[in-house]
Amino acid sequence: MCGIVGYIGKKEAFPIIIKGLQRLEYRGYDSAGVALLNGDLNVYKKQGKVSALKEYVQDKDVSANVGIGHTRWATHGEPNDVNAHPHVSNSGKFAMIHNGIIENYAALKTDLEKKGYTFQSETDTEVFINFIEDIFLNTKVDLAEAVRLALNKVIGAYAIAIISLEDPNLMIAARKGSPLVVGLGKEEFFLASDATPIIEYTNEVVYLDDREIAIIKDGKLTIKNVEDVEMKPYVQTVDIELEAIEKAGYDHFMLKEIFEQPKSIGDCLRGRLNAKEGHLHLGGINDYVNKISNADRILIVACGTSWHAGLVAEYIFEEYCRIPVEVEYASEFRYRNPIVGEKDVVIAISQSGETADTLAAIELAKSKGATILGVCNVVGASIPRTSHAGSYTHAGPEIGVASTKAFTAQISVLTMMALMLAHKKGSLTESEYRKLLVELEAVPDKVAKCLDLNAQIEIISEKFKDAANFLYLGRGYNFPVALEGALKLKEISYIHAEGYPAAEMKHGPIALIDENMPVVFIATKDSSYEKIVSNIQEVKARKGKVIAIVTEGDTDIAGMADYTVEVPAAHESLMPLISVIPLQLLSYHIAVMRGCNVDQPRNLAKSVTVE
Ligand code: F6R
Repeated sequence: MCGIVGYIGKKEAFPIIIKGLQRLEYRGYDSAGVALLNGDLNVYKKQGKVSALKEYVQDKDVSANVGIGHTRWATHGEPNDVNAHPHVSNSGKFAMIHNGIIENYAALKTDLEKKGYTFQSETDTEVFINFIEDIFLNTKVDLAEAVRLALNKVIGAYAIAIISLEDPNLMIAARKGSPLVVGLGKEEFFLASDATPIIEYTNEVVYLDDREIAIIKDGKLTIKNVEDVEMKPYVQTVDIELEAIEKAGYDHFMLKEIFEQPKSIGDCLRGRLNAKEGHLHLGGINDYVNKISNADRILIVACGTSWHAGLVAEYIFEEYCRIPVEVEYASEFRYRNPIVGEKDVVIAISQSGETADTLAAIELAKSKGATILGVCNVVGASIPRTSHAGSYTHAGPEIGVASTKAFTAQISVLTMMALMLAHKKGSLTESEYRKLLVELEAVPDKVAKCLDLNAQIEIISEKFKDAANFLYLGRGYNFPVALEGALKLKEISYIHAEGYPAAEMKHGPIALIDENMPVVFIATKDSSYEKIVSNIQEVKARKGKVIAIVTEGDTDIAGMADYTVEVPAAHESLMPLISVIPLQLLSYHIAVMRGCNVDQPRNLAKSVTVE
């Protein structure tokens, strides 16, 4: 949450910062601002999107070779111009941008007020920069040291960048709990919350670790930790293509990402799976296969869509590997006193690899001796770095705030993990295993066939775009898909939607059903097919409107449902990878028809780095 960009070098900073903020807008879009050094410290900020800021500065002086910029997802204080970042210290010398939350800001503010400091905004960030200034003025150390001393006193999470009117050749950044990347160019440095604003200029980056401070001074980068120990920068090469972060002719990133799924699932399987040769290998967990096979239990921690992928994985792991699995919301897990031990394996699933609750759940499980496997999309993010082992999903950058291709890539990786373990354990016969490899390899083509349904789904969307509520029902492997379909619809179209296991309908939600209630059934041919057919009849008997996702050639349900959408047949454990596609398209079209901002839905941000 919140996007940070910084530039120090010889080029014009403002265009680089603005472009970078637009790339990071998925992280928050409540307000945007920049601070630029050109002899003066010019700060411009505006409520709303980066485009509003761009418009606002049209007649302003934005020339500078040094600057920082921020796009905000509001935590402390409502989204308005005053609360927008950057914030400037009382002396007017220091400007700061911040992603995160300072938990002890109220106590710090009271102390500073007693010393005469005044505050314009309601933010913790303004307190933070004045706290640094106070240390700077009172201890007579340099700014970098003042920042370090302050970081030892603040409680909470942060990624920060600071510039100083007194020294235009200096930029200081630090992180704890929120991501920060330093890009290394020729006589120039970049700062950003992820690598996407940087890749146009350089592919050499350093990912800061928690409690590290980057000091860029006079063209040199020094990294030290908050204990004042100098660290050797670990320079990595990023290989994100520029096209991957652009819309490529699609109206929205979400649509592009839905349509990318045959490729993204293919990329995820590539080099790992070869069904013909019976080959399946996830290098990232190789050293842990014995450990996982002998685990007492697998615990899955995640949030949102990633949690739904975890639910699918629960069914798959228990079915194939016969290991008990529990799926936990990371936010709940971290705050109870869970029973976790050394024989537990924890799988943390996260597209961004930065979700604060998931990271905290990992730390808790680690402290109790569990083995942690990360399943993440963003290479080099905090979760893969803090896990013992794991596998990347290789879905490519996901920019649309609503997760689509990351979900199918997560399920693909988790399926491969389960199959690899089952093979090792012998809990699947060789022929079952081989058959599943063939089935998995066929998924990208089947997903491509689902995308041909786009026009039909657009027509169905037109019929239901004004509905006030939706129910999504599924059973077995399709139950988590029902949850995911409902989440997709509510987050981007603002229609209230609930997902339920179809059999649970009788225990409450059936009371909601009347002629105005659209009910989406995920009713593909599987072991609970007959049961879900009965559930469809129960809804029809109460005049509900049924949209059914069925297996190609299913004429029985077509005779009962108001609308049927036929998807290719697949092994039931792989069906979520296929049945979710029409639901993603349904939510997309309904949201577009309702005039919603599909890629940046209100109140949401993609990388939830605050709890
Ligand atoms: C929904 C969505 C969110 C994320 C959740 C976890 O479309 O995107 O529910 O799935 O915030 O994020 P990650 O996977 O980055 O940990």
